[in-house]
Amino acid sequence: MNDMTPTDMPAETKTDLFSRFDPLIKQRQDLLDTGVTDPFSLVMEKVLSPTTAICSGRETILLGTYNYMGMTFDPDVIAAGKQALDDFGAGTTGSRVLNGTYAGHRAVEDALKEFYGMDHAMVFSTGYQANLGIISTIAGKGDYIVLDIDSHASIWDGCKMGDAEVVPFKHNDIEAMEKRLKRIPEGAGKLVILEGVYSMLGDIAPLKEMIRVAKENGAMVLVDEAHSMGFIGPNGRGVAEDQGVLDQVDFVIGTFSKSVGTVGGFCVSNHPKFEIMRLVCRPYVFTASLPPSVVATAATSIRKLMHAGNKRAHLWENSRTLHKALTGLGFKLGTAEPQSAIIAVIMPDLERGAMMWEALLREGLYVNLARPPATPAGMTLLRCSLCAEHTAEQVEIITGMFERAGKAIGII
Ligand SMILES: Cc1ncc(COP(=O)(O)O)c(C=O)c1O
Repeated sequence: MNDMTPTDMPAETKTDLFSRFDPLIKQRQDLLDTGVTDPFSLVMEKVLSPTTAICSGRETILLGTYNYMGMTFDPDVIAAGKQALDDFGAGTTGSRVLNGTYAGHRAVEDALKEFYGMDHAMVFSTGYQANLGIISTIAGKGDYIVLDIDSHASIWDGCKMGDAEVVPFKHNDIEAMEKRLKRIPEGAGKLVILEGVYSMLGDIAPLKEMIRVAKENGAMVLVDEAHSMGFIGPNGRGVAEDQGVLDQVDFVIGTFSKSVGTVGGFCVSNHPKFEIMRLVCRPYVFTASLPPSVVATAATSIRKLMHAGNKRAHLWENSRTLHKALTGLGFKLGTAEPQSAIIAVIMPDLERGAMMWEALLREGLYVNLARPPATPAGMTLLRCSLCAEHTAEQVEIITGMFERAGKAIGII
């Protein structure tokens, strides 16, 4: 044994490729050595409802699930899934372009077309794959992708998988976006990628202005509405609908893993040539399609979300109430006003963030702990996502839990 660390060994003796993870392994171990519970290995032992589960043997309020509209336990959604299991079996064992398109896949794409009022809908196995597939396929060699620097990992990975030049701009900065668009060589294809709601801080994009600038500069526009579908906008179509610019968006990307309450991803579009995507988009072609029970639950959920105005209003009420209460207690939040169903509570550092996360869990509250590199500006966040099924009483209980935990850890 020699005592050289992997990084100062000669290149040819660096045999353990895992040595690149040593800093992260150390950071995790240092955190666990403080005695804190591992925030990334929680087990839901039983899920009781969209807002409650048994974790470590105790009933826990869920405030970090992105189950915005609480559709996971909707009786019609569950019945549709059970029926599809009986009628079509457990899985398709095939790609959408071979044996993996069942009636249910067409039905969920029809539901999406109706939900968005768009001509085309294409369903992927996850939202991650939808971004990978659409971005890497539509923007090719010689094209330019201009994207917000705080874009989701699946957007970055979609850019990486394709051959286009990738040009990031400062988060939500319209001028920075415009400057980059104007520098793109004459004649090159341009794709601007934005999100409706940015999930780390829960802030929304000024889509109206950004899309205007993108269009003035000859760019196509893709908007990821993962965290706004079902909730934001008069019909729950997202931030683009809310700001009156949905008709100018070329591609909307979304997921079934948040408001829809199951798993899957999609792209909807009015582009007249959109259907060719089914033959050329590798993350659509070279993977098995979603199980029949999943597409049946998704289709039922999406159709119910078209008529969920009361639920949307209640979710806004929950978001406003919690935002006001946490601000009043002295917590620092990601946005000055509630802009979505996500409320991000900014922690002073990872250690105290993990301690606060654990203190909340002991109180009986689950939130998401988020840390760099997933977060912007190196922040540690406790991300709260509200649900339309949280009662006003639960929101009050949650506030009390934050107050006790925050005082115990010394954050407020
Ligand atoms: C903005 C955004 N896009 C895409 C995804 C991927 O969705 P899925 O869970 O369906 O893979 C997520 C998931 O967190 C997301 O936040």
